Amino acid sequence: MKNLRFLTIVGAIFASSVAVSVAQTYRSHLLQHEQQIDSILSTMTLDEKIAMLHGKNMFSSAGIPRLGIADVEYADGPFGIREEMEPDSWNSAHLTTDSATFFPTGSALAATWSPDMAYSYARAMSREARLRGKDMILGPAMNIQRIPTGGRTYEYLSEDPLLSGALSVAYTRGAQDDGTAVCLKHFALNNQEDYRGFVDVRISSRAMHEIYLRPFEMAVSEADAWGVMAAYNKVNGRWCSENAVLLDSILRRQWGFAGMVISDWGGVHSTVDAVTAGLNVEMPGSRFMGQALLDSVKAGKVSEDVINQRVREILRVRLTVTPVAKDVANKRPVGNAEEMAVALDVARRSIVLLKNEAVGSKAKGVGRLLPVNLQTVRRIAVIGANAVTRMALGGVGAGVKTRCEITPLEGLKQALGDKVDITYAPGYRAYDAGSRYKHVDPIQKADPQLVVEAVKAAKNADLVIFFAGDNREVETEGSDRTTITLPSGQDELATALAKANPRLVTVIVAGGPVDVRTVSQASASLLVSWFNGSMGGKALAEVLTGKVSPSGRLPMSWPLCLDDVPAYATGSYPQKVDNNAQGDIFVGLVNNQSNDRRQQLIANYAEDGLVGYRWYDAKGAAVAYPFGFGLSYAHFVYSNLTVTPTAAGFDVSFTLANASDTDAEEVAQVYVSRPQSRLNRPVKELKGFQRLMLKARETKTVTIPVRRRDLCHWDEAANTWMLEPGSINVMVGGSSASLPLMATTVIQ
Ligand code: GLC
Repeated sequence: MKNLRFLTIVGAIFASSVAVSVAQTYRSHLLQHEQQIDSILSTMTLDEKIAMLHGKNMFSSAGIPRLGIADVEYADGPFGIREEMEPDSWNSAHLTTDSATFFPTGSALAATWSPDMAYSYARAMSREARLRGKDMILGPAMNIQRIPTGGRTYEYLSEDPLLSGALSVAYTRGAQDDGTAVCLKHFALNNQEDYRGFVDVRISSRAMHEIYLRPFEMAVSEADAWGVMAAYNKVNGRWCSENAVLLDSILRRQWGFAGMVISDWGGVHSTVDAVTAGLNVEMPGSRFMGQALLDSVKAGKVSEDVINQRVREILRVRLTVTPVAKDVANKRPVGNAEEMAVALDVARRSIVLLKNEAVGSKAKGVGRLLPVNLQTVRRIAVIGANAVTRMALGGVGAGVKTRCEITPLEGLKQALGDKVDITYAPGYRAYDAGSRYKHVDPIQKADPQLVVEAVKAAKNADLVIFFAGDNREVETEGSDRTTITLPSGQDELATALAKANPRLVTVIVAGGPVDVRTVSQASASLLVSWFNGSMGGKALAEVLTGKVSPSGRLPMSWPLCLDDVPAYATGSYPQKVDNNAQGDIFVGLVNNQSNDRRQQLIANYAEDGLVGYRWYDAKGAAVAYPFGFGLSYAHFVYSNLTVTPTAAGFDVSFTLANASDTDAEEVAQVYVSRPQSRLNRPVKELKGFQRLMLKARETKTVTIPVRRRDLCHWDEAANTWMLEPGSINVMVGGSSASLPLMATTVIQ
């Protein structure tokens, strides 16, 4: 019998891959209006149709006034409803009724590894969008974090397509279940901010589908997303806003997308090509899709059938999303307790504990600095401008005008102010907008006077909490960081603080990875608290004081240095361009610079599908902290792994025990590897995860399904998804670098 089983497995391994039917199995909710749309189209004039295909104001496009069909109102997203602008400019409208909740930004949401949190987050944001009169949230921002220095790493979710996709599916469902359309952005491969207005991404079809498009495909095919935003860049030679492979072949024909595609702001380059490829709305303005389009139709360059199809796709969304009456929008307060509570819940679960070691006593578990021991700690020195810096606004692009943002210092004072003496010293000068506009390098030497003051405060304390990291002027849309070195001389300051008082906790406030080698060495405890929303300071205080155990897990690898990062190691980023290259397109829009993007700039994704941990595994390269990593105040033990084939793939079951006296949440992760595969594959890939609460000393049996669909690879010859039968190693644990359980199964 054993031999037969062996032969069966061998036979399976050599069987050729089988095509997996992934034809759209869902029918979009948007398709319920087709007959009504037929009727509307039959009465519309060509002018009325063309009017719908371009911007009306900076953040709206036209409806059909004569038929009582409302304009479409857009709002950034993706981490809160942006303030109102003047109708045709980027200037604030300076209203007093357009505040909103500042939700933790994308990388913080991703650090929760919780689709439930993503659902609640987007549903709460939709409630606010409705109060503010918006039909479509310009989010989730879901491009893969290919480079840790990417200016929008803080907005994006992860380096991994399954984690990004699962959270985007939940975000889409949350917003649309509440009645607001999402706009998946930026479609596609907008993975850098430098030269985003004209970089031409060259990538293999397999890597494009398996890594960079997969989150978008999941949000369309599993959550029926109603909107997509075409990215600024080119992909394989064609601008995204006129890329028929992306907008028609893949998005609409392969995935079954039934909604509308809007351009990124100023990201259109043609009339006939764009509207024919599948662009529905040019935003903002009408340079290409206004009079030029009307003329093109009249000249017979574009058939009215194409115009009708583009209008149909817009009307499907318009008739699905209930318009908010003008006398309702921006009339009631926004940023209320219910939505703030969601922001707090997400922030609590996003905070990642990277290190927590004992100081002094070597007894196991004794003397760890966190959670703060109020029996022994009476004086806390809070050091660092990031303890008082607000992150809701800053940099280029979306931000949130919020009535409330609890800073880390405020959170600590609220939690401990009556029990502990808290002193504060800035320690360094935060990088500000003035410096950014003057292109001052954020990496500066420490300010000796500020260091002296901070060291003095540290010496007199029972505990030092140092807030390092960067801010929204350092990590910003429109430009990438040039380094991950901590700005403002923070490394030097951390070393001085540790010398003054080894009871040092460092909190990294940042949206993306920073070089933590020095601060990790200097600190007994190290955490990441992200750009964590209106309630971020409160959430952090709850973690530091032990009210909640830290349960965030890194959604992206934290490299030791940039040379180790695949895009850098392969020399495909940063690209070298002539020094008169156009500035960021967005800034160009703001300054009405010409959209002249003649420069040819190729970004050849030479690492192919090996982004993030996939690369570090393949190269055996060490990282500072790995994908999926995060410590807890509890201790979890994994055992009893079984893998059971199912019709949908296989179920991964195991026992998880909380071997501590602390209630805590764990994020169990499932990776697969296929060493016998005949294809080139990463060493391992994330194929399932689950966040779960275990009370002190509680044990649970956990089952995580792995889907056949997620085991497929993109076959470039067949130009479709295929499933390679054969053996699969299944590994389970609490991080990509800690997978104590392993079993082998076979997929047919
Ligand atoms: C920007 C961004 C996009 C944003 C849009 C409107 O350039 O790339 O994410 O939604 O313009 O602000």
